[in-house]
Amino acid sequence: MKENATIWISGTMHNIFSIGQILTELNFRILNVVTWEKSNPPPNFSCRFFTHSTEQIIWARKSDKVPHYYNYELMKQLNGGKQMKDVWKLPAIAPWEKSCGKHPTQKPLSVLTRIILASTKPNAWILDPFAGSSTTGIAANLANRRYLGIDMEKEFLNISKNRKLEIENKITAAKYKEKINGFNNKKELELFLLDEPKEEYGNELIL
Ligand SMILES: C[S@@+](CC[C@H](N)C(=O)[O-])C[C@H]1O[C@@H](n2cnc3c(N)ncnc32)[C@H](O)[C@@H]1O
Repeated sequence: MKENATIWISGTMHNIFSIGQILTELNFRILNVVTWEKSNPPPNFSCRFFTHSTEQIIWARKSDKVPHYYNYELMKQLNGGKQMKDVWKLPAIAPWEKSCGKHPTQKPLSVLTRIILASTKPNAWILDPFAGSSTTGIAANLANRRYLGIDMEKEFLNISKNRKLEIENKITAAKYKEKINGFNNKKELELFLLDEPKEEYGNELIL
């Protein structure tokens, strides 16, 4: 990671505490712990617990001395003019996001798009070493950022490749940008991207 890079790590109650502990031991500075509240969580079939409806995402920076990037104004705009909170109410993955095959823990583009827009500039390199179906990469490329993904399963690399080929079609890419949740209207993401400076080479991000 570059000195000004930040890292986002998602988890559940089963592992998020140990990840926080490890980050602290490695001298990372935790910036936020975002709670993604799924607006449509799957039911709990055992009926012995509360329905699991959240995932936690830790946002941390590598260096205590080098400032991180945060697009405060855009986040405020997406939250109706009020400061964006660390609780994000966004729906679970939609069927259109699985057009190239199913990954068992695929994340919605809405969550990754918000992460990327909040913490990177155009053209930034984004690494996801546990890429799965490369939701990170699709969100990154749709938002004019660069992506490197790693996964140990060939099947998932194939899904990633097909998703990438799919968005090389400009009409499909435009359609997906309109469908991503978390924006005030269908055109907001595209209009924001058109307005971003083109030659920026921003900070790196690791997921
Ligand atoms: C939680 S999934 C990521 C899902 C992804 N965010 C998406 O939206 O599709 C984690 C991925 O990490 C991969 N993985 C686990 N351990 C790995 C390792 N040591 N090296 C490379 N990939 C690994 C798994 O194959 C799995 O696809």
